[in-house]
Amino acid sequence: MVTVRRARSDAHERSRLAEICLLTGAAGGDATDLLSDPTLLTDAYLTPYLEREPDLCLVLADEADVPVGYAIGTADTAAFEQWCTAQWWPSVRARSTGRTSPPRSDLERHLVDRLADRVPKDPQLLERFPAHLHIDLLPVAQGGGNGRRLITALLDALRAAGAHGVHLGVDPANERALGFYRHLGFEVVPEAKGLVLGLALR
Ligand code: ACO
Repeated sequence: MVTVRRARSDAHERSRLAEICLLTGAAGGDATDLLSDPTLLTDAYLTPYLEREPDLCLVLADEADVPVGYAIGTADTAAFEQWCTAQWWPSVRARSTGRTSPPRSDLERHLVDRLADRVPKDPQLLERFPAHLHIDLLPVAQGGGNGRRLITALLDALRAAGAHGVHLGVDPANERALGFYRHLGFEVVPEAKGLVLGLALR
């Protein structure tokens, strides 16, 4: 029996969500061995959402109320990116102790680029699909409709927040997630940079 609820802001819950982020961060699989610094991953794909979009951070919790997955996003990607550039990345860089080792993987190289705010933006995409999201379930929670349950709740919340479309980026190696999104009605946005799927929210 699982439930969907808002993420809490306490340190215990954050560390559990960070664990889920790491265990699903490599095209849906465990990213532990690909990163010398796991906070690079959470600083890019988890914590800024918890900080800026607490109403749009949902967790799937087990019988003991422990998170086994999360879905997080923003209804306004342009505003979110502006906030990241103005506040989030500078604060992350200020507390970073500086890297001493070269990136361990392409994933870590990409995350270092994000930390430096060097990842190109795609304003045209945002006209049709202003919202974006991430969803990650631990292997124990995957299947049986849990992903659908969680993403449906987040899509409802994004709709309620005024978004008329949502997009997400997927690693082409993540065939399971691609199949899941397409089954739910997401379609590839051919003009986007990288593999991006979009869905109109009506
Ligand atoms: N191909 C076709 N259909 C699929 C596939 C697939 N690969 N996977 C699921 N489905 C269908 C199911 O049959 C089900 O159909 P139904 O509801 O009509 O009966 C529906 O999609 C929902 O399936 P769930 O059981 O809810 O899927 P699941 O719980 O596995 O959630 C998810 C999918 C979120 C991808 C999960 O497996 C996961 O977290 N994986 C690891 C992390 C990950 O890869 N996250 C995505 C990263 S990309 C990003 O967040 C932007």
